[in-house]
Amino acid sequence: MTLETKALLVKIGIGLIIASLLAGYTFVWIQWVDIEGYQHTTLVHHNYLRARHGSPAVSLDADLNEMGRKCAHYYVKNRVMDHSCPFHMNYWPKMKEYIGECLWRIPTLDWSYYEAAIAAPRTFYAEIENYNFTDVESNIPKFLSVGHFAQMIWKEVTHIGLGISSSSSAPEFGIIVVVHYYPLYGFGDVEKMRKNLKPSLPEMKPIPIYGQWWPGIDPNNSKEAAAAENKFTFEKGPWGGM
Ligand SMILES: *[C@@H]1O[C@H](CO)[C@@H](O)[C@H](O)[C@H]1NC(C)=O
Ligand SMILES: *[C@@H]1O[C@H](CO)[C@@H](O)[C@H](O)[C@H]1NC(C)=O
Repeated sequence: MTLETKALLVKIGIGLIIASLLAGYTFVWIQWVDIEGYQHTTLVHHNYLRARHGSPAVSLDADLNEMGRKCAHYYVKNRVMDHSCPFHMNYWPKMKEYIGECLWRIPTLDWSYYEAAIAAPRTFYAEIENYNFTDVESNIPKFLSVGHFAQMIWKEVTHIGLGISSSSSAPEFGIIVVVHYYPLYGFGDVEKMRKNLKPSLPEMKPIPIYGQWWPGIDPNNSKEAAAAENKFTFEKGPWGGM
């Protein structure tokens, strides 16, 4: 073997080591994007919709994400959607304060987590139809039909975290999205509600398809869901739009 061939072999050897290291890194990186991607999707939707009401942007918190992930697994495992997750007890130890929890579920495994990550905040937001910004007190008894909207847009919220889960052993339960909010909204306190929930800013265009997103689409048909997604007439926000 000539010196030149040896050098070539060494080069190939080193090349392979580097390639496998890169391949390993790429693999890890893809996993990371898969986990963080849908969380980011939900975050972007929150901030876009919050901005419509003059509420400041929120950030993802790693602890709240982890809590969301554990609770999503818990709800799927127990096939319940009742805020009974023992991993938060509605309490965020880091801040020593209560947090809010919004749950969304679709009884199919056909949707991707990205579709769920988009549909959940949109469904929460659709409750705006039930919220009366003029007669704020009238919302209190109907909090079940406006609560998700209120928690999502609540001005004082600074952090969110979320988890999505599903299991092939519970196809009828489907996919669940768990979103945690810090701090918990002050629903029931009219003054706080007035301060934290402003009507959509006048310069914001209406989002016509919102109310129809959920009822108008066959949840078992992900192609139809994707087509509906493309029809969205969102203007691009400062976070790159939808
Ligand atoms: C909100 O409440 C006011 C005062 O009660 C009422 O006049 C108005 O119709 C309500 N708006 C909606 C959208 O229900
Ligand atoms: C979706 O699929 C489930 C299970 O096959 C079925 O029970 C349900 O009726 C379907 N929903 C629609 C809207 O077709």
